Amino acid sequence: MIIIPLVAASILKNRQDTLITSSWDFRSTNVRSHCPPKPPYCSSAPTPGVTVLPKMANVAKIFASRAQGLLQAAARQPQVAARFSSSSTNTWEYIKTEVAGEGKNVAVITLNRPKALNALCNGLMKELSTALQQFGKDKSIAAIVLTGSEKAFAAGADIKEMLPNTYSQCIQGNFLNDWTEVARTQKPIIAAVNGYALGGGCELAMMCDIIYAGDKAKFGQPEIALGTIPGAGGTQRLTRVVGKSKAMEMCLTGNMIGAQEAEKLGLASKVVPADQLLAEAVKLGEKIGTHSNLIVQLCKESVNTAYETTLQEGLKFERRVFHATFSTADRKEGMTAFAEKRPAKFTNE
Ligand code: CAA
Repeated sequence: MIIIPLVAASILKNRQDTLITSSWDFRSTNVRSHCPPKPPYCSSAPTPGVTVLPKMANVAKIFASRAQGLLQAAARQPQVAARFSSSSTNTWEYIKTEVAGEGKNVAVITLNRPKALNALCNGLMKELSTALQQFGKDKSIAAIVLTGSEKAFAAGADIKEMLPNTYSQCIQGNFLNDWTEVARTQKPIIAAVNGYALGGGCELAMMCDIIYAGDKAKFGQPEIALGTIPGAGGTQRLTRVVGKSKAMEMCLTGNMIGAQEAEKLGLASKVVPADQLLAEAVKLGEKIGTHSNLIVQLCKESVNTAYETTLQEGLKFERRVFHATFSTADRKEGMTAFAEKRPAKFTNE
């Protein structure tokens, strides 16, 4: 079986034009604030993120038509980047949103519930989903950085909030279903993790595409000490990244690992001094943003497929995506620019 994300068309359909920004400096980067819609939060019908296909033989045919649809939908999407007004009002309750980088093309979402160590309550997760959807539709944004405070990226799901939950409430309310937006976002997301990334916090970081860790970061899945287990991918994503023995040790003991070990295990791709973490993550987003956003999106989808299918199916998927890039203007421009010894000018088409 193979799993193919199907979010492009519906995300592109649900255009939003309520982003409001103002310019200010953030550390060494230019940053502008985003003002979210007022509650009630955007609650467009959840987009089904995946479809399960029954036969390998269908993969090439189905993917070819979907890749074409995705490319056409991207080409139809109008520019929304200019729809910013100059307001510094911040009406988010649990997060902060800014735009950083010289080209102002890297969105920064900061979890902002410091007293509870960014415990992931329902309100926070809803705001995070809304912000991700907004940045996902904003054509000026090439990459998204998700970060927390110096003490905590996030100390997990909000234990006090979920304490009274019953089994039937969890089932009927589809508890944690709101948490999937990070994994469904088509743009690259970089987790910049300082301090604790525990339980749902570690799971949230693992839903991102790349993890940069501050040198004091701590990762762990301590749910076992609460009489429960990870519920947002901890037993699955962690195992795929660090292997069974280490994942089992972490999930069964609740022990934390530090940034250096996380890097050694491949959980984090880089460790940087805590005070430079955000700037480094933004720099990474800017580097990604120098390429075609369209091709970056396809490349992300292809790498993610490695986690969700067999090698042969993944190789076939990759080959079809590679072929699909030959229908894009950016592939032609990239190769022409190389041959003409000049920088490429990508149009994301
Ligand atoms: N939920 C709710 N509140 C939390 C929280 C959480 N996950 N983590 C910390 N807080 C709150 C504390 O209750 C405390 O609030 P008060 O000041 O009102 O008492 C405040 O944040 C500061 O926390 P501590 O005083 O405990 O700070 P510390 O520095 O002594 O310890 C810590 C830090 C080791 C991270 C500790 O807070 C801790 O162990 N937190 C819980 C971690 C955890 O178990 N996470 C998993 C949650 S379950 C989950 O995530 C399920 C899933 O898979 C989705």
